[in-house]
Amino acid sequence: MCGIIGYVGSRPCKELLLEGLKRLEYRGYDSAGVALLEEDGLHYVRAVGNLENLKRAAASNGSRVTHGLGHTRWATHGTVTEANAHPLTGCSERELAVALNGIVENYRELKESLLADGHTFSSETDAEVVIHLVERHYDGDLADAVRAAYDELEGHFSFVVIHRAHPDLLVGARCQTPLVVGVGEGETFLASSIAAFLPETRRVQFIEDGDVVSITPAGATFQSADGTTGDPDIVEVDWDEESAEKGGYETFMLKEIYEQADSVRETIGDRVRHGELVLEALEMTDEQIRNLRRIVIVACGTAYHAGVVGRYIIEEWARIPVEPDIASEWIYRNPVLSKDTLVIGISQSGETRDTVNAVKLARELGARTLAITNLMGTQITREAETVLYTRCGMEVGVAASKTFTAQAALLSLVALKLAQVRKTLPPEEIEFTLNQLYELPRKIDEFLDADHPIEEIAQRFYDKPFFLYLGRHIGLAVALEGALKLKEISYIPTEAYSAGEMKHGPIALLEEGTPVVVVATDIHVYDKIVSNIQEVRARGAHVIAVATDGNEDIQHHADDVIYVP
Ligand code: BG6
Repeated sequence: MCGIIGYVGSRPCKELLLEGLKRLEYRGYDSAGVALLEEDGLHYVRAVGNLENLKRAAASNGSRVTHGLGHTRWATHGTVTEANAHPLTGCSERELAVALNGIVENYRELKESLLADGHTFSSETDAEVVIHLVERHYDGDLADAVRAAYDELEGHFSFVVIHRAHPDLLVGARCQTPLVVGVGEGETFLASSIAAFLPETRRVQFIEDGDVVSITPAGATFQSADGTTGDPDIVEVDWDEESAEKGGYETFMLKEIYEQADSVRETIGDRVRHGELVLEALEMTDEQIRNLRRIVIVACGTAYHAGVVGRYIIEEWARIPVEPDIASEWIYRNPVLSKDTLVIGISQSGETRDTVNAVKLARELGARTLAITNLMGTQITREAETVLYTRCGMEVGVAASKTFTAQAALLSLVALKLAQVRKTLPPEEIEFTLNQLYELPRKIDEFLDADHPIEEIAQRFYDKPFFLYLGRHIGLAVALEGALKLKEISYIPTEAYSAGEMKHGPIALLEEGTPVVVVATDIHVYDKIVSNIQEVRARGAHVIAVATDGNEDIQHHADDVIYVP
C-alpha cells in the first residue's frame, strides 16, 4: 500500500511534500521520491529506505518550487531500488510523471503495446505503464489524457500525474483505492490519505471511483466516468493526526481488519487474469512440480495458522502430503528432507528468527524453499530460493489480522497452481475456484459492512474466565487463529481444539455458561460439527457458532450465530 501526496499552490512545496510523506509512513514504505517542477522541467529525488535519506538527498533541490508530487512505495512489482521508486517518468523525463498506489493488473499487455510503439521503460514496475499511456494520449489536455489512460487500465489503483506544460495543475484518478482532495487557501492537495495534509487543511473532498480530478491552487474539479462534472461537498474533518493515520478507526488493528478486502484483492491482484492463474514467482518447472512428493510449511503464530489452512487446501486440491509445523519445533527435529520436498516459510514481517532459521536449514538440507512474506528485502527473502508476496501494506498491529487472510488467499493460489500442473483438478473446477477467490474481497466487505451480533456477544462474555474454540478441517485452523487473537488481545485464557478430539480431554473444562465458539460453516464435516456442538451443550456450555449465510439448521443447535457470506 503506497502513499501519494501532490501540491499546487503559492508556497514552496518541497517541505510540505516531505512532511506529508512522513505522515504517510505508517502505511509502510521501502523507498520514496518527489518530483519538483522547476523552470527547466521536472526534477526528481528518490531514495531507498528511511525518509531521512530522501530528505538529505532533496536538501539542495527545488526550494522555491510551488508544484510537486511525492510518493512512498511499498513494493509489489519490481525490487526495492531508486529506479523503481515513484514518481515514475514517461519517455521524456522532464515533461511528466506519475505517482501510483495499487496494482495495474493488465500492465503486461499494456507494456507490450507501449514497447511496440517505441516507448522505453526505466523501471520494473507495473505503475510505469500509466505515465506512458498518458504520454501516448496527451495532446494538450492533461485531464483528457488521464481519462483515456484510465479507461485502458484494469485493476485497483489511484494515481496522480504532473506535467511540465501545466505548471498549476495536478490530475488524478482512482479505482477502488483511496484518493482525496485537501482544499487550502489558494493551494490544493491530492493525496492517498487525509493524514498526508491534515495539519495544512481540514477541508476535504472525496473522490469517487471512475472520477478524474483536476486540482489547481483555486481548488478541484471532478469529471465522472460519464463525462459529467461533479462538485462533491467540502467536508471539514475533525480528526486529530493520530486518528487520521488510523483512518478514523479506534486502533490500527481495527483499521487493518477493515483493510482485508483490499489486501486480499491486492494479493490476488494480477495473479488471476480472467480465470487464468499467473504465479511466475513459484519458479519451479512443471517437471519439478510433478516430482514434488511432500510439502512442509514452517511458521510461527498467526502465520502458522495460515499454514494449517494451506495444508488442507494444498492436500485436497494438489494431492501432495503437506505437513505444517511450528518453526521453533521443526528446526530441532532433525527433519528428514530431500530435493523433492518443498519447504514453505510464512512470515508477515519476514524477520521472525525461528521461521528464517527454518528456511535456512531447509535449504542446507537440500529441499526446495519458498517464502511467503509481506515485505521485500527482509531476511526470509534472502534465505528462500523464491518468494511470493502478500500485498497488505504495513501491518502496524502486532497481532496479525489482514496478513492472515492474505496468506490464506495466496496459499489457495499456490494450491491451484500445483493442482493445474499435476492435473489433480479438472480445468473447469480450477476456473470456478479462481472466480470464487475473485469474489472473496467483496464478501469480506459484505460481512464487515453488515449488522452482526459480534459487539453484543462481546458485551455478554468479555468477563468470562475461559473460552473454548472448536473447528474441523479448515475450521480448525480458523479456530486456532481466533483463540490466538483472544489470548493476544483480550488476555482471556483460551483453548482451540479439533471439535472431534475435544471429548478426549478439554470437555472436562466445560461448565454451565462456558462460552464455546464453533466454526460451523458449510463444509463436508458440518454434521459432525453439529454433533460436537450437542456434546458441549450437554455440559451447559453456551455455543457461539460461525455459520454460512442461509443456514437455518444451526439456529436449532447454537445459542448465538455469526453468519458469514
Ligand atoms: C508474533 C505475533 O510475535 O509473531 C503474531 O504476535 C505473529 O501475531 C507471529 O503471527 C509471527 O510473525 P510473522 O511476522 O513471522 O508472521
